[in-house]
Amino acid sequence: MGIYPPKEFIQQANVRDPAIYSRASENWVEFWEDFARELEWFEPWEKFLDDSKAPYFRFFVGGKINACYNCVDRHADMRNKAALIWEGENGETRTLTYFQLYREVNAFSAALRELGVEKGSRVAIYMPNIPEAVVAMLACARIGATHVFIFEGFSARSAGFRLKDSRSEFLITADGYYRRGEVTNLKEKADQAIEQYGGIKSVVVVRRAGIDVEMVDGRDHWYHEITKKGYTEPEILDSNHPLFIMYTSGSTAEPKGVVHSTGGYLVHVYATSKLVLDLKPNDIIWTTASLGWITGHSYGVYGPLSVGATVLMYEGAPDYPDKCRTFEIIEKYGVSVFYTVPTLARMILTCKTDSYDLSTIRLIGTVGEPIEPETWTWLYREVGRERAPVVNTWWQTETGGHVISQLPALTPMKPASVGKALPGFEVAILDDGGKPVKPFEIGNLVIKRPFPGLMLEISGDPKSYVKFYWSKYGKRVYFTGDSAYMDEEGHIWIVGRVDDVLNISGHRVSLIEIEQVAMGVKEVREVSAIGIPDRVKGSVIALFVVSEEASEEVGRKITEKIERDIGKIAKPGLIVFVPELPKSSGKVVKRAIYDAVVGKKKPAFLSNPEVAEMLMKIKPSER
Ligand code: WTA
Repeated sequence: MGIYPPKEFIQQANVRDPAIYSRASENWVEFWEDFARELEWFEPWEKFLDDSKAPYFRFFVGGKINACYNCVDRHADMRNKAALIWEGENGETRTLTYFQLYREVNAFSAALRELGVEKGSRVAIYMPNIPEAVVAMLACARIGATHVFIFEGFSARSAGFRLKDSRSEFLITADGYYRRGEVTNLKEKADQAIEQYGGIKSVVVVRRAGIDVEMVDGRDHWYHEITKKGYTEPEILDSNHPLFIMYTSGSTAEPKGVVHSTGGYLVHVYATSKLVLDLKPNDIIWTTASLGWITGHSYGVYGPLSVGATVLMYEGAPDYPDKCRTFEIIEKYGVSVFYTVPTLARMILTCKTDSYDLSTIRLIGTVGEPIEPETWTWLYREVGRERAPVVNTWWQTETGGHVISQLPALTPMKPASVGKALPGFEVAILDDGGKPVKPFEIGNLVIKRPFPGLMLEISGDPKSYVKFYWSKYGKRVYFTGDSAYMDEEGHIWIVGRVDDVLNISGHRVSLIEIEQVAMGVKEVREVSAIGIPDRVKGSVIALFVVSEEASEEVGRKITEKIERDIGKIAKPGLIVFVPELPKSSGKVVKRAIYDAVVGKKKPAFLSNPEVAEMLMKIKPSER
């Protein structure tokens, strides 16, 4: 059952032999090592996997490698080919060939070294989607500094937390950036973040928006003034040297710093770029995620550049100024691989796709949140015109790269399913006791075998690492935090998170963090945040607030505080004042709220029957 991949696609695909599955399961070491050998190592690894300290798994032990070298220097033979094509929201465009990227990365690496950045330094990058952000990542990778990218939409407070938690000593930022026609002053936010923490020695500022910003003497430097020329020898790094830290939301209020390796991570994103996104050097891939999210890192930079493809990067809102700008961009640059989130697809679903030449698209991928069959079918029929397979990729910040997905030339596609575990992976769906569930029964999604892109650790927090991922089923079974079921043919269907994490527009937010921030508004006595289904965003945050002063004014204060403290992505879609929250043993029962609002089921755990009526009357879709 399912839709078979189009013939023309199969003929040209990187992987079209179904034996890949059995080969990988018979010899998974060889499967990964074959990909690893396609990269360039300064010294080969002695051991593929060291699992003696589970749940800390180390891959390609003893190997020496440099991620920047593999993404840039290794492509010297295609020096005149575009590595990066960029379009600003205001219509400006820039192209960097592989040679120009090489030059720029070398020069900026030298500038960073001059500022005192060393192997092992942690360098925060608080930047919009502009070419210098990619240059900054690669320059850090070149000299062995660990980059800590902070999504530009995060508030100063969220950025400050990340600077402090990661103990970053350097910060690279921009004066400002464009979003929906307006310029946001990023430097000001960066300054506030630095103030909260105080450990930043030097700041590099890229001029993007040309706005007036304050530069602190001795601390702040303009990118264009310190970046001259020069060659910088790439550091010869241990395979398990930390390439970057990516913060992500978990089931506590505080985001977790997920640390990724150099060798294992690069092998994973390189392999999956070829296997799943079918990338080849003559492709132009547009990954619509911001660089500040894992998707931007893995399939907007390291994956595509390690393959030698061309990356298309866009700065602003994909539906601004025209709702259908996404299609203008695809047409203008001839995008061949379009990798996006279902939310974006739902936003542009009403665009007339036949008004654009979309014939260059040969593969579509989605990620980050469940996709419903209608949106999937629209992508397949109207955007890919049934010529391009649509792969639904499941993975997480913690996994570094794809884990479950269709293989585009091999797996029949079932709209909205994520397909099967990729070759080399072993996943299962277990009940709470650890037994595999039957087909169509919902259970916890786990990964039963480590893989090269698996995070090294949670920065500075070994307890959380073990507790969240390796406690439920022991030290060798990775608990994903997602629930899912399998159909009779073994295809997997993701249901959603089992913890207090919510995916909004493909971004991860913590409901606990939101509640904690809302509690900071003095009129709020109690609050509970849940996710409710939304037609476009997948989910939105609904806040249920107990307050003596139930007023619009208090609602506004809560929204403003959340925007200020976390960022616009965490803005609630709905705020409801209630006299009471359902509770059992003193704890709010979120499930009861959800079932009342979404399922119209009478909630238990309430002393006041009017509250039950009230919750059941809410019409989430008519906000
Ligand atoms: C969800 C994003 C359904 C899931 C790469 C996971 C998905 C979380 C899919 C990780 C998908 C990711 N279908 N849900 N194809 N892909 N998710 O860390 O709940 O930002 O746990 O990584 O997104 O989000 P993260």
